[in-house]
Amino acid sequence: MLPNKRGMTDGPTSKTLKLHVKTFGCQMNVYDSERMAEALAPAGYALTEEMDDADLVILNTCHIREKAAEKVYSELGRVRQMKETRASGGKETMVAVAGCVAQAEGAEIMRRANVVDLVVGPQSYHQLPDLVAKARGASGVLATDFPTEDKFDHLPARTMKRALPSAFVTVQEGCDKFCTFCVVPYTRGAEFSRPVSQLVQETESLAQGGVREITLLGQNVNAYHGEGPDGKDWSLADLLRRLAEIPGIERLRYTTSHPRDMADDLIAVHGDEPKVMPYLHLPFQAGADRMLKAMNRKHTAEEYRELIGRIRAARPDIALSTDIIVGFPGETDADFEETVALVREIGFAQAFSFKYSARPGTPASTLEDQVPEEAKKERLRVLQDVIEDERKRFEQALVGRTVPVLFERKGRKPGQIAGRSPYLQAVHSEGPESLLGEIVEVDITAAGPNSLTGVINSGFAWDDRVQPAV
Ligand code: SAH
Ligand code: SF4
Ligand code: F3S
Repeated sequence: MLPNKRGMTDGPTSKTLKLHVKTFGCQMNVYDSERMAEALAPAGYALTEEMDDADLVILNTCHIREKAAEKVYSELGRVRQMKETRASGGKETMVAVAGCVAQAEGAEIMRRANVVDLVVGPQSYHQLPDLVAKARGASGVLATDFPTEDKFDHLPARTMKRALPSAFVTVQEGCDKFCTFCVVPYTRGAEFSRPVSQLVQETESLAQGGVREITLLGQNVNAYHGEGPDGKDWSLADLLRRLAEIPGIERLRYTTSHPRDMADDLIAVHGDEPKVMPYLHLPFQAGADRMLKAMNRKHTAEEYRELIGRIRAARPDIALSTDIIVGFPGETDADFEETVALVREIGFAQAFSFKYSARPGTPASTLEDQVPEEAKKERLRVLQDVIEDERKRFEQALVGRTVPVLFERKGRKPGQIAGRSPYLQAVHSEGPESLLGEIVEVDITAAGPNSLTGVINSGFAWDDRVQPAV
């Protein structure tokens, strides 16, 4: 039996309770954090940005690489101090660990960090109000089963006020691919696609709340095959076409895709559905076939090249993005050179690269020929230089062009607003805040290290649209 760590008897009851959610990891966790907050709202919890104010702290965690998982424990050290300070002021604090570390490590988390009251896996978020109530009276509650009911059927509708005109919608969860380096099939379980009607409803309510851009999420989003209104399985392409019909929705994106699931109908959508943005994140992980095989990626470098050719034929200006791992067990300098060559050849607008990190329970973690840390570091440095060159080249090519920008937030400097190009770069421009949530043509004037700068196109009569009538 774990000791009761709350140290308090009566929790706050009548006043509004404060919830602080700290999110680590991928966009699916960002989405889940929102849904957790929505699930807890009926139980009286309102979000706070300040952890010190929170009656309930949730850490929504990531297990993908060792560093990500270890972050949770250093954060829990800070949470413990905060909880003690609050306790000395007579305030109770509940601490929950959610997400992929919760799923992967379960009760071990409470053993390592006894500040934790509740460990909840991604499939149980709809049970949060009950689990939190249970954790108030018990010591150390664990919910990491994969419940039989669909959590999405039990989560409240997405009616929370939205600060941004872009939102995530998880359409698919889990993964059956079992790449030999990856924890996701274990932390997120088997592949599951949400039904089309549920997604249409969710997107409609987001659109009514002012959302203009939706990014469809899934660990393997292009493997989506949800039940359509006709009772048949719909593909991601079918889903995108349906969501494009929803009034108010102007932009659609999706991530992350696997090269093996890049079906012809999906490629075609990029060519003929203008609301689908010209951007595709398509991880290839390694350039050498030997490595791809050892990773269980089930595609070759040549197949990837050929696929990119077909995608570019459908949408020539598409911005491509990818994920790459360096230093997978057994990777030689020559293998690594193949990765660099492929990156150069394709010319990515953006790429994310990682040193291989051995994850407990994955097949690659027990391979003998692990690459020394120094070699991994050096390969990452070389690769990131190449990636950076390409990113600059892509962005430089946008200078002098006019692109539609969805303005999302205030910019860094007074009088500036910031948004995204169709190719996903951040764009800053002088402009009134009343343009937030609008798509506006912007002449790109410069490409900086973190964003593009532009001038709202003079042909766009924004003065007429945003000035109050006099
Ligand atoms: N579902 C996505 C990726 C999910 S994880 C896909 O299939 O591509 C995001 C990225 O983290 C992966 O694409 C991979 O490049 C990286 N990654 C996953 N496991 C890793 C590990 N053990 N070490 C280093 N990088 C890893
Ligand atoms: Fe992980 Fe591979 Fe599944 Fe992507 S496809 S989530 S890398 S196992
Ligand atoms: Fe991390 Fe889980 Fe996402 S391991 S990358 S938070 S699916």
